[in-house]
Amino acid sequence: MKIIVAGGTGFIGRPLCEALAGAGHDLVVLSRSPRSSASVRIRYAPWQPPAAGEWALEVRDADAIINLAGEPLVARRWTPTQKARIISSRLEATRALVEAVRSSPSRRPRVLLNASAVGYYGPQEDERALDETTPNGQDFLAQTCRQWEQAAGAAESLGVRVVRIRIGLVLAKDGGALKIMLPPFRMGLGGPLGSGRQWLSWIHRRDLIRLIGWALEEERCAGAVNGTAPNPVSMSEFARTLGQTVKRPAVMPVPGWVLRAVLGEMSQVLLTGQRVIPKAALTFGFQFDYPLLPDAFADCVKKCQTLFARGKVSDTF
Ligand SMILES: NC(=O)c1ccc[n+]([C@@H]2O[C@H](COP(=O)([O-])OP(=O)(O)OC[C@H]3O[C@@H](n4cnc5c(N)ncnc54)[C@H](OP(=O)(O)O)[C@@H]3O)[C@@H](O)[C@H]2O)c1
Repeated sequence: MKIIVAGGTGFIGRPLCEALAGAGHDLVVLSRSPRSSASVRIRYAPWQPPAAGEWALEVRDADAIINLAGEPLVARRWTPTQKARIISSRLEATRALVEAVRSSPSRRPRVLLNASAVGYYGPQEDERALDETTPNGQDFLAQTCRQWEQAAGAAESLGVRVVRIRIGLVLAKDGGALKIMLPPFRMGLGGPLGSGRQWLSWIHRRDLIRLIGWALEEERCAGAVNGTAPNPVSMSEFARTLGQTVKRPAVMPVPGWVLRAVLGEMSQVLLTGQRVIPKAALTFGFQFDYPLLPDAFADCVKKCQTLFARGKVSDTF
């Protein structure tokens, strides 16, 4: 397949592109700062959404589009300006892709796989398990995801199968939450954030990449798909399990008020959560390699140690 990957240079996109190229697909990565590629199967094309550009021509003979592009959700405090960037970067990129599909004269991609986040469901206080039929929440993140999914959904009227992957907390050694959490946990300074009762719906990055590859080819798969492992945990269990993995106590909680003072409204991403179940993926028979958190952590930490030992920290997988 020829696959366009927008935002394919980040924490998920980079190893995803390597995996797809390794499986024999040809990739065009849309990036605001394109680079040269070591792989004959991966090309970079410049884009600056919402501006149209030559990149749109690449869509004309593409079989699939994967859209991961967007301003990081939790890199900076949610000032009004940053909130506007978080929303507009996603809507502009997604709408530009859908417009490129619309303008494609003869042939259209069969599938658009658009990222979303479990934040779609909003903060949930209770233990209720949420699946893809659960309505969206009302807070900033939930509304951002709702609009983002709606923008992608516009491709359905063009005859494109649209899959909206509501991604949970992605675990891998070289980025995301684990990269930040591992150093204090290794020093025995780790612990739960806030009350510890909030739910964390996580996924090993390799399973997410496999899920994306599976959703590209599984024609029955359309609409919302939760990109989370089948066994979400509470924040307390998450911290306890990480402590056990690195063989250190994890009894140093970070009080909610500290996070609220430091991070402002963004702290709600850490202090609240939702218990999300990947019902669609399980129903269609997708098999997770890492359904349980101890195995996912053990793999991430083991890889870390092996790579540190070999001095190959830049390896991505
Ligand atoms: N990682 C997670 O745990 C997680 C969880 C839930 C949802 N997600 C969502 O999944 C997507 C991919 O996640 P990720 O962790 O790989 O993110 P990432 O590392 O931040 O990569 C996102 C990519 O989007 C592009 N981008 C960044 N800011 C942009 C902007 N203002 N306008 C247009 N493009 C921009 C960048 O590509 P260029 O600089 O090359 O243009 C970047 O490589 C994101 O949209 C994220 O919100 C991730």
